[in-house]
Amino acid sequence: MTDLYCVFGNPVAHSKSPVIHAAFAGLTGHALRYEARLAPADDFAGSLCAFLAEGGKGCNITVPFKEQAWALAAVRSRRAEKAGAVNTLLAGKDGRLYGDNTDGVGLVRDLVQNAGVSLAGKRVLVLGAGGAVRGVLSPLLAEKPACLVVANRTAGKAEALAALFADEGSISGTGFTGLAGQQFDVVINGTSASLQGELPPLPADVLAPGAFAYDMMYGAQPTVFLQWAAAHGADTRDGLGMLVEQAAEAFFIWRNVRPPTAGVLAELRAALSPEQ
Ligand code: ATR
Repeated sequence: MTDLYCVFGNPVAHSKSPVIHAAFAGLTGHALRYEARLAPADDFAGSLCAFLAEGGKGCNITVPFKEQAWALAAVRSRRAEKAGAVNTLLAGKDGRLYGDNTDGVGLVRDLVQNAGVSLAGKRVLVLGAGGAVRGVLSPLLAEKPACLVVANRTAGKAEALAALFADEGSISGTGFTGLAGQQFDVVINGTSASLQGELPPLPADVLAPGAFAYDMMYGAQPTVFLQWAAAHGADTRDGLGMLVEQAAEAFFIWRNVRPPTAGVLAELRAALSPEQ
């Protein structure tokens, strides 16, 4: 029987994961089936159980089930443990469910390997303090930035996150007003403000000369944040590469082989382009 994988979400029809994993399967010569599965908002656990009973080997988990997936995993990687969320589950041969979080590795690979932006020794600013940001802080700190500042509309949430990760590197939390007079080499938008077409209230001079701006969101058009950053002289990149790289890491966890990502990213980019 062909090995079965899926992504759970609600909604899930928009997910690009089936296309990405089908491409990875083709590129690596692995025969597998990967489906999008809509789980009812109140019964992710039931959907997961049914999938495992069918012989499902592993799954991705997207909004709003990542925290529930974390709770249902019998064993969690260290990065998933700290993230408080699991986006990749593996049905272990020992019958146990292994939980990991590949979002942060996806972000770091896209920044460092695909965009050529080193984080070591840099002043890094992360905007937002929700689940998306919590999921990426461990891998960001592992790159040894000179400092990592988390800024959030609700300052207390940024301070709490910084305290949670203080043992992993130089990290602090603040409200947006606390950024006055500070400059950063790399600014990563992890707020959901882009979804509403809004811009976090940033001081105009927060970007150091030659700064790099990254938005964890993506779309056919640059987000308001990326438009703002480009207008202030920064190089910019959206989160489409992070999506592909987190998928590649999940594929590696399941199949023990790392698929090439550049061609898949280029195809997704072309399909997103407004000229299509
Ligand atoms: P996610 O899972 O995407 O991280 P979340 O946990 O609801 O979603 O977090 C959303 C984040 O975006 C929060 O940091 C939120 O700020 P608050 O903690 O102050 O609510 C931030 N956010 C949402 N809309 C925003 C806006 N218009 N301007 C600035 N920050 C915004």
